[in-house]
Amino acid sequence: MTVSVITIDGPVSSGKGTVAREVAIKLGWHLLDSGALYRVLGYHATQIGVALDDEAKLVKLAKALPVSFVERDGDTLVMLDGVDVGNTIRAEEVGELASKVAIFQPVRDALLERQQSFAQTPGLVADGRDMGTVVFTAAPLKIFLTASAEERALRRYNQLKEKGFSATLAALVEDIRNRDERDMNRDVAPLRPADDALVVDSTTLSVIEVVDRILDEAQQRSLL
Ligand code: C5P
Repeated sequence: MTVSVITIDGPVSSGKGTVAREVAIKLGWHLLDSGALYRVLGYHATQIGVALDDEAKLVKLAKALPVSFVERDGDTLVMLDGVDVGNTIRAEEVGELASKVAIFQPVRDALLERQQSFAQTPGLVADGRDMGTVVFTAAPLKIFLTASAEERALRRYNQLKEKGFSATLAALVEDIRNRDERDMNRDVAPLRPADDALVVDSTTLSVIEVVDRILDEAQQRSLL
């Protein structure tokens, strides 16, 4: 039996993490935060002294990554070797590490099956960059969520402040532009909407509006 999958791809701080979580909660489906895998890999590599350009070692590490996602009180703990690194990996610097390890095709291949194994009944909402184009190409609903760089920087700024990280808005706009550039222009799995994706610009939409739009689409496609 094929499991229903909704993919939500998009650039950094497009709101896809929050939206994907809300959609998954509303539907009672599983959630895959694929960015967390790349973040954990970049973080773990740095912690144990593996250079971020050492492709062979990164592949080995990716295959045996001691990471697990644990649902607790409506939140997902990201456990690395038994330690919750959920907050640590949200830092801007770790996002940078993630986008560096993510450029290697063999590293991505090493994480592919692990990501696909999240497709379990009753369904999966998968959040990332290449969920619709590579990991779940047969998904019946693919969303590409975007927003202006300024709006995304502002969202990221508020998010970081809330978590107690320091940041400046100008630096974040710059950082977001750089990360978009790297993610969109890399040779492997570049960030782009799947041909059959629905592009949703959330610049002027609230989270609830975006979630409702996705649920409407899912309903129209008889996924619910
Ligand atoms: O989504 P998040 O910001 O957590 O992702 C961190 C980085 O991991 C991205 O900037 C991107 O380089 C990489 N990534 C990826 N493919 C995914 C998810 C994330 O290359 N499916």
